[in-house]
Amino acid sequence: MTAVPWADTTRLATADQIARFECDRVGVNEWLHDKALAARPNVQTTLYVDADGGVIPFAATTMVIVNVYEGTSAQRAGSREGSSVGFLLAQMGVRTGLTGAGIGKAVLREVMAASVRAYREAPFPLFVVDAADEALVGYYERAGLRRLAGQFRLVTPMRQIAKSFDTGK
Ligand SMILES: CC(C)(COP(=O)(O)OP(=O)(O)OC[C@H]1O[C@@H](n2cnc3c(N)ncnc32)[C@H](O)[C@@H]1OP(=O)(O)O)[C@@H](O)C(=O)NCCC(=O)NCCS
Repeated sequence: MTAVPWADTTRLATADQIARFECDRVGVNEWLHDKALAARPNVQTTLYVDADGGVIPFAATTMVIVNVYEGTSAQRAGSREGSSVGFLLAQMGVRTGLTGAGIGKAVLREVMAASVRAYREAPFPLFVVDAADEALVGYYERAGLRRLAGQFRLVTPMRQIAKSFDTGK
């Protein structure tokens, strides 16, 4: 298993934990500093920290109802109603100065692993990511997600992710 660049993971619980964290996207920083604490009943924010507690990346996840009416049959994942349920990576950011070194990719893998653990407890159809812009759609497609037509939202069936973790791919 590849070593991850953080020492520990912790849940967001106080503003102090994230006071000094900035990533390269204003909207993501605003969400983390202004909204993440209040969102805690619905959104779980995980901080990946160095030995001093400094946040390297963070990821925020929640469950979401996804409109898959116009999706492919894989994206509909068995839904006849046109809506489905997914584990959503809602926000993610890597600390400014540390981007481009594979940390985002490692976080995505951790989030997928967490989604598989949740799926094993109570199955649900989809893994979902909302890309911040067009350029990032390609970033998530390279991780195996498929875009819903005309949206910045990408999905992949959970059974596919679970299988890839089973086989170690
Ligand atoms: C997007 C982000 C999480 C990626 O993390 P990272 O650690 O830099 O990514 P990795 O090192 O795993 O991957 C780097 C690859 O992603 C690409 N990439 C990074 N940021 C990108 C962006 N904004 N748009 C398109 N591609 C991007 C790089 O070009 C690089 O491509 P390569 O592998 O072909 O060289 C990070 O750049 C970040 O925190 N950005 C600001 C916040 C943000 O945009 N969050 C995402 C919200 S959907």
